[in-house]
Amino acid sequence: MRVTRIKEIRKETERIKTYILEEKVDAIPGQFVMVWIPDVDEKPLSLSYHKGNMGITVLAQGPFTNKLAELRVGDKVGIRGPFGRGFKIVGDSLLLVGGGVGVPPLAALADEAIQNGKKVTAIVGAITKSELLFVDRLENIGVRVLTCTDDGTCGTKGFTTDVLRDILKKEKFDQCYTCGPEIMMLKVLYEAKKKGIPTQISMERYIKCGIGICGHCIVDGTGQRVCKEGPVFRDVDVEKISEFGKYHRDASGTKIYFRNRK
Ligand SMILES: Cc1cc2nc3c(=O)[nH]c(=O)nc-3n(C[C@H](O)[C@H](O)[C@H](O)COP(=O)(O)OP(=O)(O)OC[C@H]3O[C@@H](n4cnc5c(N)ncnc54)[C@H](O)[C@@H]3O)c2cc1C
Ligand code: FES
Repeated sequence: MRVTRIKEIRKETERIKTYILEEKVDAIPGQFVMVWIPDVDEKPLSLSYHKGNMGITVLAQGPFTNKLAELRVGDKVGIRGPFGRGFKIVGDSLLLVGGGVGVPPLAALADEAIQNGKKVTAIVGAITKSELLFVDRLENIGVRVLTCTDDGTCGTKGFTTDVLRDILKKEKFDQCYTCGPEIMMLKVLYEAKKKGIPTQISMERYIKCGIGICGHCIVDGTGQRVCKEGPVFRDVDVEKISEFGKYHRDASGTKIYFRNRK
């Protein structure tokens, strides 16, 4: 565990902030760090900026993330990592599909892919326009961004998977990458598979140790550890994870079933 200070805070949306930390990093997009706030908790967060000063982008939604939202520039946090397997850039034409707070690791991937001369299209979805994340950031580096919102306030009215179905009718991609609500990712996997496009999926499970020791993040079906063999998995592996798109486990190991938003 190292201690670092918050260098900069950017308000991205009403409930989402990016924290640029003083510590520098050279990580793979899709890797995560364990962030510790003394007397509160330690939680896994994907790197939204994976080179130079590390950045995390966080939705305030519970005790830990609400506390993080109260911190100011100069405050200290504990850091472990980066941990886990990140995304692998495959082919020349990449399609990214991100929902809500699943967009941060995909934005890091887009940075890396564009720097490597790849053509990147990103489908970015949110409930409403003000919740859309990193649209300007992605456009500014040369990503083609297609937005969608549940309420139709920006881009297509509907889900990322509606936009995905549409674009896959007209265009071909070498590889698809997705991060967001698990039911969305399940549908992305299905749609991309129909077109023969391999997909890389970033999974979220309750992480405790983060380094493959405690076994808490083991998934049913394959016995893989999300913190070690993941969080990014290939489609062929995800298909064998029997709980994918069905349930995850909370801190005590109790199954929590996903609910479909449709
Ligand atoms: C690999 C990975 C990368 C993540 N990256 C991001 C990110 O970039 N931005 C972001 O905002 N969130 C990210 N998360 C989720 C983040 O860890 C949870 O939002 C955070 O733990 C919530 O804690 P809380 O105390 O604020 O809320 P809680 O009330 O404890 O939880 C809110 C939600 O987060 C889930 N959660 C709580 N603790 C954990 C945990 N230890 N591991 C996984 N899920 C948990 C709960 O099941 C619940 O659905 C990531 C999770 C994982 C596993
Ligand atoms: S969180 Fe301990 S093994 Fe993954």
